Amino acid sequence: MSRSRTAMLAALALVAGASGTALAMVPDAGSIAAIPCTVDYQVQNQWSTGFTANVTVTNNSAAKSSWAVKWSYGGNQQVTSGWNAKVTQAGTAVTAANETYNGSLPTGGSVSFGFQASYSGSNALPATFTLDGVTCNVDSGTGGPTGPGTPGPGTGTKVDNPYAGAKVYVNPDWAAKAAAETGGSRISNQPTGVWMDRIAAINGTTGARGLRAHLDTALTQKGSGELVVQLVIYDLPGRDCAALASNGELGPTEIDKYKTQFIDPIAAILADPKYASLRIVNTIEIDSLPNLITNTGSRATATPQCDTMKANGNYVKGVGYALNKLGDIPNVYNYIDAGHHGWLGWDDNFAPSAQLFAQAATAEGATVDDVHGFITNTANYSALKENNFSINETIAGKSVRESKWVDWNRYTDELSYAQAFRTQLVSAGFRSTIGMLIDTSRNGWGGSARPAGPGAQTSVDTYVDGGRYDRRIHVGNWCNQSGAGLGERPKAAPAAGIDAYVWMKPPGESDGSSSAIPNDEGKGFDRMCDPTYTGNPRNNNNMSGALGNAPLSGHWFSAQFQQLMQNAYPPLS
Ligand code: GLC
Repeated sequence: MSRSRTAMLAALALVAGASGTALAMVPDAGSIAAIPCTVDYQVQNQWSTGFTANVTVTNNSAAKSSWAVKWSYGGNQQVTSGWNAKVTQAGTAVTAANETYNGSLPTGGSVSFGFQASYSGSNALPATFTLDGVTCNVDSGTGGPTGPGTPGPGTGTKVDNPYAGAKVYVNPDWAAKAAAETGGSRISNQPTGVWMDRIAAINGTTGARGLRAHLDTALTQKGSGELVVQLVIYDLPGRDCAALASNGELGPTEIDKYKTQFIDPIAAILADPKYASLRIVNTIEIDSLPNLITNTGSRATATPQCDTMKANGNYVKGVGYALNKLGDIPNVYNYIDAGHHGWLGWDDNFAPSAQLFAQAATAEGATVDDVHGFITNTANYSALKENNFSINETIAGKSVRESKWVDWNRYTDELSYAQAFRTQLVSAGFRSTIGMLIDTSRNGWGGSARPAGPGAQTSVDTYVDGGRYDRRIHVGNWCNQSGAGLGERPKAAPAAGIDAYVWMKPPGESDGSSSAIPNDEGKGFDRMCDPTYTGNPRNNNNMSGALGNAPLSGHWFSAQFQQLMQNAYPPLS
């Protein structure tokens, strides 16, 4: 969420209980011509349980014979009646449509309407207004100024797909490790994610430069073209609640520390005008929200830690806070982690996850306009496209969905999942312009064991198991998977609805140690990284499929890097 200075002052006044507060999102002089519409939202009267507001919309585009103004609330505001417009509300989304008598809105013309609403807690001002789907108060020109004081939500100055026409930042710290490996120079020039995985990562740790140093290096890589820098924002309180390998430094209740010592300093750096020419893509907090859906409550997969994080709300608050703060910055693009098909692709998880993401995206002052898209398969191994079987087939009298591998999932690969989940997210309230990223860093599954065609039709299991590229023992396995290979090379706009294939997880960095290793990073030992482990309900009690002799998560794992290159698909030349 982003507001003009005027709006920020208004918001503060409102918190202080002032009435008659104005949110006048008035454009700076000079950019008026490029503003398609302006909305002036004024709280006229406010009491402890309700308020009235007056809204004036000015149309700077072509004349209209009917109109609809839309916004959404971050809190529990609920419109109870309206005047001079038909004001309706669904969830947090409000629509004000013209009455029969005031549908005409000429170019340069204004119309006003009012409403009464209930609320409790704080009555935070809506961040974004649209008139007939066009965002108001935002300079619609491209390449306009993005410095402080630029009016309106940053989304107006963001491009639809940040990867289109852009190079992507090559992290020199990762590239050096990759290049030092035999054969590694074949891929060491590929862009990979920069993980802000602890507070210390902001200033840099041994062998890994800090955030400013990355952005300074990015400016040198950029030259005169466009450059995307990929960050992973990953330090929630009680992190990794269903596993131990990537437990973090913050305890379950340390939400304030997360805000003030992690997100705020990152936001301050990203907002430095020096970096305004970079397109900064954030992957927001992998694994956290999906865990609240699948690993809580009465499910066999539940863990006490995930129940705690669901109950205390600190994943939702942390994600909301991060989206809000980082989304304020005009050249920052937030993508929320959306698990992968082998996690959220079942009916029980699919729609509820989209719903939860919408809740997080409207928590702590965030709005759906702070979300540019979603990323699937981050640091996971799910194949991009399974060509040798599909859920619509019936083999030996059984649906492919009944096979042990698919186990009633609706999706068999990441591409179909990401595209379908995009549609689901839009119906849950996200913008229709959202784009998906797919992490293809380690989902190639090539090499000599890659099936050349479908499996034998003896049974649905021989058919699926004989044909599938993903050769994990179980789709719930996630740690240092034996047999995996590098996937599709990073690529912009590879398929409908997909902004890019990315290598968010840097290949060669371990998912977790295969035995306990003392450390000062908060990391635990998860037996899913131990090749002798026989599993738990989250992988249906199967062997872990992990490589042995693995170092701590995030540390360099040479043997894995070599195997990933060997099994790359498409193969390395
Ligand atoms: C794991 C680690 C984290 C690391 C990341 C990327 O999630 O916990 O520290 O930065 O992988 O390799």
